[in-house]
Amino acid sequence: MSLKSCSKLVLLAALVGLANAQGYWIFAGSRPIVTTRLDSIVAPNAIGTHVHSIVGASRFKNVYDAADLMRSNCTTIPVQPDKSNYWAPQLYHHDHQTGVFTPIPTSFNVYYLLRNGPTKKPIKAFPPGLRMLAGDTNRRSYNASSFADQAVSFVCQDFSGAHDHDPDWAERNNFFDHSCPDGLRAQVFFPSCWDGNNLDSADHKSHMSYPIQNYNSGDCPDSHPIQLVSLFYEMIVSVDKFDYQGADTYVLANGDTTGYGHHGDFQNGWDVNLLQNAIDSCPNVNADIRDCPPLAANINQASADACVLETQVVDEATGFGSPITTLPGCNPLWDGTGPRPTCPGLPTPSLVPAQTSLPSGWTQVGCIAEGSSGRALTGASTTSSTMTRASCASFCASKGFSLAGIEFSDECYCDSQLRNGASSSTVTWNECTNHCAGNSNEICGGPNRLTLIKKN
Ligand SMILES: *[C@@H]1O[C@H](CO)[C@@H](O)[C@H](O)[C@H]1NC(C)=O
Ligand SMILES: *[C@@H]1O[C@H](CO)[C@@H](O)[C@H](O)[C@H]1NC(C)=O
Repeated sequence: MSLKSCSKLVLLAALVGLANAQGYWIFAGSRPIVTTRLDSIVAPNAIGTHVHSIVGASRFKNVYDAADLMRSNCTTIPVQPDKSNYWAPQLYHHDHQTGVFTPIPTSFNVYYLLRNGPTKKPIKAFPPGLRMLAGDTNRRSYNASSFADQAVSFVCQDFSGAHDHDPDWAERNNFFDHSCPDGLRAQVFFPSCWDGNNLDSADHKSHMSYPIQNYNSGDCPDSHPIQLVSLFYEMIVSVDKFDYQGADTYVLANGDTTGYGHHGDFQNGWDVNLLQNAIDSCPNVNADIRDCPPLAANINQASADACVLETQVVDEATGFGSPITTLPGCNPLWDGTGPRPTCPGLPTPSLVPAQTSLPSGWTQVGCIAEGSSGRALTGASTTSSTMTRASCASFCASKGFSLAGIEFSDECYCDSQLRNGASSSTVTWNECTNHCAGNSNEICGGPNRLTLIKKN
């Protein structure tokens, strides 16, 4: 997301009542690294119960291994030493005429809020290995006295201000009965008080607690005395791109048509010293990570843009590219009325590499610059809306060439030598930022840059 929209977010943050915060920063417009049915906290070493939109580090996999996660090549968060993952259920559009489900494009604003209570306990970084959950996938109703329920909320974005005083458009704890011209904001505020001992617990929540006074600020209870930095997700969902057709138009990947079952998950992958340094150095930062020197020194948006998943995904359709007729997993629509539907005999899919493997005998050279006086590869070319590195290599092999280069996500070029001043010396990997048209988990070139593959 551009810096232009970033400043809009800053303004919004002030409008929604975060103005009283002490310091805070936002990883704004952060892109999911993958959308798949995995949950390394709730369903370790298994397939998850529903599809999640997962932001952050490139070694996300089906079990949390903090040391392995820290070895991630990159993250979709601008501050590259933060190898955490942040996730929430994917929101789908349910078409009432055809019955199909389409995943709605999503990005995250991840807030780090430097909040403590009246006793001003020092704010600590997330300890290494910490994971936690906020919200509850099984909720289908609201308890106004529960901080856990208050911590999940929705905002219907209308930047025109036309609905500013309309109660039907006010922030609420379940879905709206209308679309939102500038997108829906699904929000989750995490508990910020830690018991000081356990990095996880059986329900992934009991080792954490909301503060005494409020879900989003206050002193920590004696049972959970350590005040951690507060974490808050805004999942921005482009519901405005899909028509509202009445109740059950928007549904979470867990089959929830109410919104009460929205939730968020976090697994720590920070360089903890860096996070503590940012907390200590930036008590008054006002949203912008560029104003917090320890964070500013580590911003690399090009790497965030070029980052792709290194691990595996669930081998099933999630609706991207082509809508699906049922939500992955056992997730028939359920608003909490009547018994929860079951799905006897549902098969369990397997895991497959996130990136399609190259044809045998072909290897990736890397990101190279295009020719300076013409194209680097001029032997043959093709374009395809399902382009991957493998499909380009296969095309070039079928034409008898030994070099394949992909550019602009969907353009494939072949030759047996590099021409027009191009060389096989690679440039910095993050100069190739175009995700392949046929697989968003792979990179297919960049502006004036080719992803070069060669036959050995
Ligand atoms: C609502 O939440 C409060 C506070 O957590 C709890 O004490 C109460 O039992 C809950 N009510 C119901 C009906 O679950
Ligand atoms: C991650 O980095 C390693 C070491 O630099 C490299 O070999 C590997 O190809 C990278 N993986 C991806 C998916 O970019």
